[in-house]
Amino acid sequence: MIPFLDLKKINQPYETAFQEKLKLVLDNGWYVLGNEVKEFETSFANYCGTKYCVGVGNGFDALVLIFKGYIQLGKLQKGDEVIVPANTYIASILAILQADLIPVLVEPKLETYNINPESIVEKITSKTKAILVVHLYGQLAEMDRINEIAMANNLLIVEDAAQAHGAIRNQESVISNQKSSVAYSFYPGKNLGALGDAGAVTTNDLELAKVIQSLRNYGSETKYYNDYVGVNSRLDELQAAFLNVKLPFLDAENEKRRAIAKRYLSEIKNDKIALPFWDLSNNHVFHLFVIRTQNRTNLQEYLQQNGIQTVIHYPVPPHNQKALSDWNHLSFPITEKIHNQVLSLPISPVLTDDEVDFVIKIVNQCIF
Ligand SMILES: Cc1ncc(COP(=O)(O)O)c(C=O)c1O
Repeated sequence: MIPFLDLKKINQPYETAFQEKLKLVLDNGWYVLGNEVKEFETSFANYCGTKYCVGVGNGFDALVLIFKGYIQLGKLQKGDEVIVPANTYIASILAILQADLIPVLVEPKLETYNINPESIVEKITSKTKAILVVHLYGQLAEMDRINEIAMANNLLIVEDAAQAHGAIRNQESVISNQKSSVAYSFYPGKNLGALGDAGAVTTNDLELAKVIQSLRNYGSETKYYNDYVGVNSRLDELQAAFLNVKLPFLDAENEKRRAIAKRYLSEIKNDKIALPFWDLSNNHVFHLFVIRTQNRTNLQEYLQQNGIQTVIHYPVPPHNQKALSDWNHLSFPITEKIHNQVLSLPISPVLTDDEVDFVIKIVNQCIF
């Protein structure tokens, strides 16, 4: 069986280094917001090409704390509208709601699965104050155009890069825009994955970085003195230590993902299957390799019978979820089509050439 994602195999090469880090932290005796968190914040900011990085508990909190940080700074107010793609993982939308802001859903492009900039323009009202861009499946959204729209309408840009570590490096136009911030998740299955929950915010905005640093720690900069109504969402010291081990290998691992994607794109030939769009640049880190077909159930069963595990990202769009019942009447035809048709093939830095050969052969043999 080729598993969809073999986390044990992904982490195995780092086992000795992880154990050394565990011993270091244990011996150090400082278990919360210590040297490992500081080191990771510096290294990850450097890696991303941004001035500041603040480690937090998970990707969801990274988003919530960005929004709450902007509210604290008076740059957003409760009830402001935030534009967000309709076909994201629900965490993006829940984070907007958690910060008492109003999500305004926008259709993606069918080809890229990312938000359609021209549809953003149609949804801007006097209450719109931010765009939450999601770089879905690991591919950067059309940031030049989105940045232009944001500048013209005086909107903040928040990026959800939970699936796009490394795709966003040296993204000059956005980095130079002081009104932007990026949320990362290091959930174990991500391209840079911890051994538990972890997350971070990157930004060039010193005020925002400072307020998030405080908000993640009960709104306190000086122990037992509280400036804001904060939360406890600190990046765990041990998770930071594990991330410090893995970060130097992220580019090489992303390169392996791209090499597999290149093979899938050139060798999968099945007229019933639509392959993902990629401009061959480093703007895609292939967190997921997502194909589309009208006969998804048949294809998934056939692959399973032949020993290939696949996953659907995601089966139900956020506006059709029970949790968001007020929105169940809304219609987003492109989003719904995507959710009805997508299927993710195995892709990871530890997939072997033989396994890639096998996936290609079986997918090509499938007649629906
Ligand atoms: C697009 C997106 N946003 C946000 C999140 C939330 O991250 P976390 O699970 O670390 O809270 C995830 C991942 O789970 C995600 O895929």
